[in-house]
Amino acid sequence: MSVPKKYLFWFAQEHVDFRVAEIDSILSLFKIVSSKLKPTEALTHQPYWIVETDCEATIKKIANRSVSIRFCIELWTQASDFSKFHESLRLYSNEKISYHSHREKSFKIIVETFCKHFSQKEKVAKIETLNYLPFEGPVDLSNPDNSFYYIEYYGINSNNKSEKPEKLFFGKWIADGQRNLIQKLSLKTRKFIGTTSMDPQLSLLMANQAQVKNGDIILDPFVGTGSLLVAAAQFGGYIIGADIDFMMLHARTRPTRITQKTRSSDESVAANIKQYGKSSCYLDVVVSDFSKAMWKPQMRVDVIITDPPYGVREATERIGTVKKSPIIQENQVSTHIPSKIVYSLPLIFNDLLKFAVQHLVLNGRLVCWFPVYRECYSIEQLPSHPCLQMIANSEQILSIHASRRLLTYMKIREPCDDDAVNTLNMLDFREMYFALRDETRKEKRTKQAIERATNKAKWEEQCKK
Ligand SMILES: C[S@@+](CC[C@H](N)C(=O)[O-])C[C@H]1O[C@@H](n2cnc3c(N)ncnc32)[C@H](O)[C@@H]1O
Repeated sequence: MSVPKKYLFWFAQEHVDFRVAEIDSILSLFKIVSSKLKPTEALTHQPYWIVETDCEATIKKIANRSVSIRFCIELWTQASDFSKFHESLRLYSNEKISYHSHREKSFKIIVETFCKHFSQKEKVAKIETLNYLPFEGPVDLSNPDNSFYYIEYYGINSNNKSEKPEKLFFGKWIADGQRNLIQKLSLKTRKFIGTTSMDPQLSLLMANQAQVKNGDIILDPFVGTGSLLVAAAQFGGYIIGADIDFMMLHARTRPTRITQKTRSSDESVAANIKQYGKSSCYLDVVVSDFSKAMWKPQMRVDVIITDPPYGVREATERIGTVKKSPIIQENQVSTHIPSKIVYSLPLIFNDLLKFAVQHLVLNGRLVCWFPVYRECYSIEQLPSHPCLQMIANSEQILSIHASRRLLTYMKIREPCDDDAVNTLNMLDFREMYFALRDETRKEKRTKQAIERATNKAKWEEQCKK
């Protein structure tokens, strides 16, 4: 049996609140169970996670799936000051280092700093402090046999930077995370986008929360331009989408890019999937109102991944009428376009959870966004159902007042007759958003009126003099 080694995962300093949830999902996806491979609370603020294992393949598996991880090193040394660090690195078993120090093995050392910026010249000077390392091979910056990371960590408080690093690390590069996918799926180069297209990093995080794996069936019932399906297809999911907006699904809406006057004829969700070489994962998208049952009751999917409308940037509508007894004349039937009414947020989430309980396979996951007002948020406001266990709840802050939470639920059992969705304490984000916006505008107008009146009074006073 091999000896356990320490590894350090280094994370991107973005969407920090999603780190632990993503890692937990990946660990459970690959059934990795070990007390030494369990992210702690510390990972919610610091950008590194140190683990111990005798299985490097496990480390690579985690990195090969995560979008929060930047890279992972086999940790040779860590210390909290320079002298201890260099002392410890010098002592690091020569035998272990000599394996990498062969004169035919090229290498490079990368300097990584956190919460402090260093120029290239300063970074080179830091590498020179490591001259005692017995690496004999040539330096190769573009394609080395071995890469090493020297890391200086200055804490997380950028307003209170310490002069000396809090921590120093050195180790051999083992694997990179999947951040290259963020670039690959960039909205800037995506064939078909809209005003509410989800950015690739969050879409990929959602796919990881959903534990999408090869051959899974993935459904997005509010599919829009299909960004979440693009991410799910990257991990081998077979994708289906639905949306009430015919114009959106057929890419007939106004182009989002300012440089684009009209939509090109080949824009579509299918074209997006083709762009990334995943056409074989594309099942279809359909125009349908989520509030109306369209799927056969026995239809099952492995994952539901979705971003329902909040009613701020897009309408929250469903087919319906406020008329008491609407009649459609015989001659109007073929050309009739159904009228729409408001689809309130509590109703959307009531339908979504009910739908998930009915159509998810057992242990299947529902991953969805939920908008909240930060000042009055409490966990009781989140929708719940006895058959759905909440696995994760991560916040993305949108403004001082608003944020949205990425909720991950797992179906833990089949429903009984009296099981029901609980949206009792849910506040309607849309209503609050517009009420507060009107209030702020009113306040602003009052303030402006007072300012104008004061200025006028001052001016009149000056005129009198
Ligand atoms: C936030 S957007 C989703 C954006 C999508 N994730 C993307 O990346 O383009 C919400 C979508 O829900 C759709 N929608 C609104 N009401 C609906 C309903 N009753 N049934 C189905 N889709 C609906 C809207 O047309 C919109 O495309």
